[in-house]
Amino acid sequence: MRGFLTVLLAMILITTACGPKPLSDDQIEAQIEETLSQLTLQEKVNMIHASSPFTSGGVERLGIPELVMSDGPHGVRHEHLRTWEAQPDQNDSNTYLPVGTALAATWNPELGYKFGKVLGSEAAFRNKDIILGPGLNIIRDPLNGRNFEYMTEDPYLNARMVVQSTKGIQDQGIAACAKHYIANSLEYQRDQVDVLLSERALREIYLPGFKAAVQEGGVQTIMSAYNKVRGDYCSHSEYLLDTVLRDEYGYKGLVVSDWNAVKSTMGAATVGLDIEMGTDLQQMREGKERDYSKFFLGDTLLTLVENGTVDEAHIDNKVRNILRVMHKIHKFDGARPVGNFNTPEHQQIAKSIADEALVLLKNEDALPLNANEISKLAVVGANAVTKHAGGGGSSQVKALYEVTALEGLENLLGDATEILFAEGYEIGYDLEATDKQIAEAVSKVEAADAAVYVGGYIHGYTDAWDDIAFDGESKDKADLTLPFNQNKLINAVLDANPNTIIVLFGGGPMDMEKWGDKAKAIVQVWYPGMEGGNSIAEMIFGKLNPSGKLPMTFPKKLEDSPAHALAEYPDENLIIDHKEDIYVGYRYFDTYDVEPAYAFGHGLSYTDFDYRNPLIKNLQKTVTITMTLINTGEMAGAEVVQVYVEDTESRLPRPTKELKAFKKVFLEAGESSQFQIELDEDAFKYFDDEKMEWVLEPGKFKLHIGSSSKDIRLSEEIEIF
Ligand code: GLC
Repeated sequence: MRGFLTVLLAMILITTACGPKPLSDDQIEAQIEETLSQLTLQEKVNMIHASSPFTSGGVERLGIPELVMSDGPHGVRHEHLRTWEAQPDQNDSNTYLPVGTALAATWNPELGYKFGKVLGSEAAFRNKDIILGPGLNIIRDPLNGRNFEYMTEDPYLNARMVVQSTKGIQDQGIAACAKHYIANSLEYQRDQVDVLLSERALREIYLPGFKAAVQEGGVQTIMSAYNKVRGDYCSHSEYLLDTVLRDEYGYKGLVVSDWNAVKSTMGAATVGLDIEMGTDLQQMREGKERDYSKFFLGDTLLTLVENGTVDEAHIDNKVRNILRVMHKIHKFDGARPVGNFNTPEHQQIAKSIADEALVLLKNEDALPLNANEISKLAVVGANAVTKHAGGGGSSQVKALYEVTALEGLENLLGDATEILFAEGYEIGYDLEATDKQIAEAVSKVEAADAAVYVGGYIHGYTDAWDDIAFDGESKDKADLTLPFNQNKLINAVLDANPNTIIVLFGGGPMDMEKWGDKAKAIVQVWYPGMEGGNSIAEMIFGKLNPSGKLPMTFPKKLEDSPAHALAEYPDENLIIDHKEDIYVGYRYFDTYDVEPAYAFGHGLSYTDFDYRNPLIKNLQKTVTITMTLINTGEMAGAEVVQVYVEDTESRLPRPTKELKAFKKVFLEAGESSQFQIELDEDAFKYFDDEKMEWVLEPGKFKLHIGSSSKDIRLSEEIEIF
């Protein structure tokens, strides 16, 4: 007996010390079936729709907790508790990461993982189960209000970044949520529009990010988008939710609808939509608690199952997916890592992402500035003192702090340099830079040894939802013109000092035609998060060598963009017809030979890189590129070596080049590195929408290796057999 008790005690001690042993997949499935057998139909129905604005139903009787969700893609949103509105007196100021386009501009998947780690850890600390990000809709139209939340126009870069950010989140025991599935690439009438697109465009451009999230990232939740695709709401689409996601991709997670994106009971009851989320803002504002049993997947569905119209098996499948995710995120075994919050490590990760996100678009010997030669620095522009975290709609973040560009410059320069600040323009409805404001800005620039202009876009005129005017949810931009008459102000400042550094906030391209040729230095900084101001200052004064690369094409003018050159912005017919097909972004600009303002993959450095000794080893269907990169300058830096594939002979038309590999290489001044880049056979395939499969067509290809999609340094012809 004594021996038995000793063994038992040892087992208890080991289990307690190591924590509960996670169940195997088979054990989880067995547990799910056991739980399912005990649930009543009412209890199952309660689990498949919202139980409050950011929770879905649990079953107290069986110890099944609610699922707790939170926005957003670049920081855990303020605390809602069980309401729609932000609640006071909560410990909910937290890490404000750079936005999606900034993360993508780093072209650094390792930073993608760290980004996810911060997001997941802080979600765990705030007792959330699902963080509603990453946003990975393809940046198809520069006007889209939510482009800032997404990442890129290119499916390969999209996939590489989303896999790592998903893993980073989920390694913290939190479910990531790949959104918005799918082709939600405009905010215009987003829950009414019907997106028409070819199967090739769907497969080659819009699906790869989600496919990678599922098959490589193991993403546990996906959010169905508001829009229709080919006539079906995404939340009702058997093709998208079952045929593609589950049958083809093997997705085992759950699908949660965007809020109020389910439009009928029978639309969602029998397809792979597992949780109907949403709320009724009007009822909320009237102080009425929404009766969640009145959701489409509530009482009505219960009745339809009871009267035999809907097979209960459909409900069971939804509940299986929910329970499976609950097991995976340790809702039952208590094995979820304890989260962290506002740590110096998280803030340092935010800074390192901002450091690598800044894209030096143009530099004619104007940057970096030398602080020793500058006793007075003029800083012009309202965006130098604007905090952006709280804007943008559902992706808003209650930042613990946000270092503005002016504060970053003050932090760096200290008392050694006097800063002369002029707002230049005021942010607000229909406000424009006045002659007085412009004159004040010009006088500061003239009185200084150097000048920095900080402008571009903002999320909206105010932090309120419906005042969004530029980079924000529920509304697209009207055009790419800089607001507040910045063009006039920028020209006046450049006339006063042509070396003025132009720093632009924003989620994507803007029209620089009025002053772009005149400016000597232009930097795109996106919305660079809570440490962005420090990164911007360090880059301007050469403490940081920029390495960011554009994750989307900057057109010279809106009409040059394929969504406007080959297709149209939707109108009252509510059809978004993707007439540009697979020619999205640089695929269009290169194939149709349209010169962009700045190309996909473009980004300058303070140093130079030599591409040398390419050796292409071609083994039947795979290719190995061996090459040497040399930092020939005086400053350490990083280069993103990009590999584009051109299929010079194919049965179906293909873009002149497609990104199929990249490698970010960090080198000290003078250092060289020899490395290999592998291309497997997938890099050469295209989707044949007649055969409905990916095909590898033997024949000649060209490999283009370069510093951007336009700046090709090495090209080699190869043959795939
Ligand atoms: C919003 C957004 C979605 C967000 C959700 C919850 O409408 O489309 O991205 O996660 O509702 O706020």
